[in-house]
Amino acid sequence: MQQAVNTPPEVILVAGAGGGLGTALVEELSRRFPQAKLLTISRAHSASSDGQHSHYSADLSDPETTVDVADWLRSEPLPNWVIHCSGILHWPDHLPEKNLQQCTDEALLHSISVNVLSHMHLAQVLAPLLQKRSPLTWASLSAKVGSIEDNHLGGWYSYRMSKAALNMLVRNLSIEWGRKLDSCRVVAVHPGTTDTALSKPFQQNISADKLYTPALSADRIVSVLEKLSDADTGKLLFWDGSQIPW
Ligand SMILES: NC(=O)c1ccc[n+]([C@@H]2O[C@H](COP(=O)([O-])OP(=O)(O)OC[C@H]3O[C@@H](n4cnc5c(N)ncnc54)[C@H](OP(=O)(O)O)[C@@H]3O)[C@@H](O)[C@H]2O)c1
Repeated sequence: MQQAVNTPPEVILVAGAGGGLGTALVEELSRRFPQAKLLTISRAHSASSDGQHSHYSADLSDPETTVDVADWLRSEPLPNWVIHCSGILHWPDHLPEKNLQQCTDEALLHSISVNVLSHMHLAQVLAPLLQKRSPLTWASLSAKVGSIEDNHLGGWYSYRMSKAALNMLVRNLSIEWGRKLDSCRVVAVHPGTTDTALSKPFQQNISADKLYTPALSADRIVSVLEKLSDADTGKLLFWDGSQIPW
């Protein structure tokens, strides 16, 4: 990754803001960019809104929400940064598959709905608002296990397949928006294994120095985004800014 000196974002949108990383990112962004307006989207109704922070309650994986989300976004200033945190690995009746036979249509479709469609729906409502001269940084939190080239272990079919599809969405967006906008950085970021609800069932095999706090991961992700240059667009990045093969 090249080092770039970028102007601080004035408006930042965090989607999936209610999860472990989303919450930590909102805290880190408020600390680092106290002048910036924060826009947040999550399924939770609880977040408060004031002049500096505006929250919208929506499940972005549901296509029915897109009209309302678009109306809300139109009423707010255009974000310079968008960080989309939505993602799912397990849920009450589903653990990641160890082999092919364990992968069900339902699990794969649900994974795609949260891991891919929630990102696609937000991109679709944002796209008509984008302005050629207004720089955009978009980061989808993805996962190294979504890299096809990096897959040497197998398993986790629905998570891997859906994150690989998310990676392709990000790559496509970088191309389409790169043609439309003067300055555009569209990336997928692997946060590293972070102590959140998503990683909870798998933490016993991770050494303490490889399991990061949400605050540390948020700090690293924001640092990566701050230093992005136009040459980084269309890449899958590790939490230290190095590139992971697609
Ligand atoms: N933690 C890790 O070790 C790790 C490692 C690699 C990649 N990641 C990625 O980092 C991102 C954030 O994960 P996290 O660790 O913060 O996990 P988390 O605490 O479980 O948060 C997951 C996020 O996904 C959204 N979400 C979960 N289930 C959903 C559903 N059924 N429908 C719609 N949205 C749903 C939530 O949005 P709401 O705000 O609406 O609740 C929440 O923001 C994910 O994309 C994950 O794949 C995490």
